[in-house]
Amino acid sequence: MSDLRTQYLGLQLKNPLVPSSSPLTGDFDSARRLEDAGAAALVLPSLFEEALRHEEEHMTAFLHHQDIGHVEAEQYLPDMPDYLSELDLHVQRIERYKKSLSIPVIGSLNGITPQGWIRHARDLQDAGCDALELNLYGIASRRNESAVEVEQHYLFLVQKLLDTVSIPVTVKLSAQFSSPIHFIGELEQLGVQGVSLFNRFYQPDIDLATRHIVPRIQLSHSYESLVRIRWIAMLRNQVNLGIAATGGFHTADDALKGLMVGADVIHLCSVLLMQGPAAMADLLRDLRQWLELNEYASVQQLKGCLSYQNAINPAAFERANYAELIGQDAWLKVDLRRGRE
Ligand SMILES: Cc1cc2nc3c(=O)[nH]c(=O)nc-3n(C[C@H](O)[C@H](O)[C@H](O)COP(=O)(O)O)c2cc1C
Repeated sequence: MSDLRTQYLGLQLKNPLVPSSSPLTGDFDSARRLEDAGAAALVLPSLFEEALRHEEEHMTAFLHHQDIGHVEAEQYLPDMPDYLSELDLHVQRIERYKKSLSIPVIGSLNGITPQGWIRHARDLQDAGCDALELNLYGIASRRNESAVEVEQHYLFLVQKLLDTVSIPVTVKLSAQFSSPIHFIGELEQLGVQGVSLFNRFYQPDIDLATRHIVPRIQLSHSYESLVRIRWIAMLRNQVNLGIAATGGFHTADDALKGLMVGADVIHLCSVLLMQGPAAMADLLRDLRQWLELNEYASVQQLKGCLSYQNAINPAAFERANYAELIGQDAWLKVDLRRGRE
């Protein structure tokens, strides 16, 4: 029987499959089903900067109103002790998970400005989170903001978070950095213990009939894992961080490839939203079967065997074979199945 254990953010996990942040992990019954199906840990839905700030602004306005209000009108206002903020509910959820589940629970914060909300990271830590993931979900769209400024801003934010909590911190990044490996190296120097590569942005679409911009959440496809696989392969031997692969990991084959290039855990989201928590058990079974069939004693043995440093033809991860690939007869190498999906 292959040993599926893996280390991530200083946590010893029973296998490398971890449901990533989504509404599924925020629902207690689903979280329990995920654990029953073999999830090794889970990442909670993010606590959003916008939501907390919005709520705080409302609360300030409300209290101000009470200060200057009339006794009669105040009778209609809710009693403060009964009021549960977004943060209170989130903290209660973590406490419940920690009481009822035996797997590690990773909290998640989503924001790009440090204005006040980051202090709540300590609340998540006090509620029992085993680690924190900071989801840097920003679009650098301003003409006068350079790549260096964007990175400095993120580093400042991460530093603030590291100053606030003592549990391990990992950072979830998008692929949109000019030099992702350099930036991840800077994060490592600050003291983060991991990175999750890469988040997916939800693309706004245009409704031609109404000419409105419509935000759409589209679940991922397996082929989106390839960009993660390439970057993790190139990153693996350049940093000493926990690496989570996220985005397009749907099957045991996808997960095996992620591990081979050096990921410590594989995050799953779209596949679980589409197929339900039970898909976790099938993935785990297929992963174990492959390892046994191919005589790997452990996930540890598999991890990183095809990283840039260990692959026989590492240039294939870089640009080197680009000219060859798009040269004459390129169409013969096109995977025509894609067009029919
Ligand atoms: C409906 C939905 C909600 C999500 N919510 C969060 C979130 O709160 N925080 C976060 O960091 N990522 C969030 N994600 C991103 C996922 O955790 C994951 O990184 C991304 O979907 C790529 O993985 P996948 O291809 O397996 O779906 C969400 C994704 C979906 C589809």
